[in-house]
Amino acid sequence: MNFSVVTGDITRLHADAIVNAANNSLLGGGGVDGAIHRAAGPGLLAECRTLGGCRTGECKMTDAYNLPCKKVIHTVGPVWHGGNRNEAELLASCYRGAMELACRNGFGSIAFPCISTGVYGYPARAAAEIAVGTVYDYIKKHESGINVTFCCFKQSDAEIYNSLLDRISVKTV
Ligand code: APR
Repeated sequence: MNFSVVTGDITRLHADAIVNAANNSLLGGGGVDGAIHRAAGPGLLAECRTLGGCRTGECKMTDAYNLPCKKVIHTVGPVWHGGNRNEAELLASCYRGAMELACRNGFGSIAFPCISTGVYGYPARAAAEIAVGTVYDYIKKHESGINVTFCCFKQSDAEIYNSLLDRISVKTV
């Protein structure tokens, strides 16, 4: 069970799969979604057009085109409305679904952005606690050896993830 935290651009990571914080249309946007589509090139949008969108909390996988990773797992996180609209479970479902897809496809590594914490306004620490807790529980339950990277664009997010992983003493790098 290998966890790591990096600060930087997820489009540059060579993980087997990187996760995209998309919207329900899957037709691109700003933030990490925009960065992934820019780096992947037009082939990604063309494939996304064939998927018929994605419901909040669910995941769909595409090829990676010009990205250095092998696949992109698109997921749609919840928009934060104060915490009383099932946001926590929907966010957990994003992480759980991405882990299921990665493990079902035999991937050895996966990298997550901080889903829902940008445009969608989810509080950073609460989201990180859900991310770490959901991924850790999935790996323990399924005895998976997959390497998980939390890719933070902001140093402040990396500090949160590092403190959470230190607390469960699983961080390897
Ligand atoms: N690499 C890694 N993380 C990134 C990158 C990048 N290149 N660019 C942005 N981020 C970080 C943000 O700093 C934030 O911590 O990704 C996290 C998620 O922020 P958003 O990309 O805004 O995603 P989200 O909050 O889930 O909102 C999704 O935004 O971009 C649109 O189409 C997207 O409508 C959807 C909405």
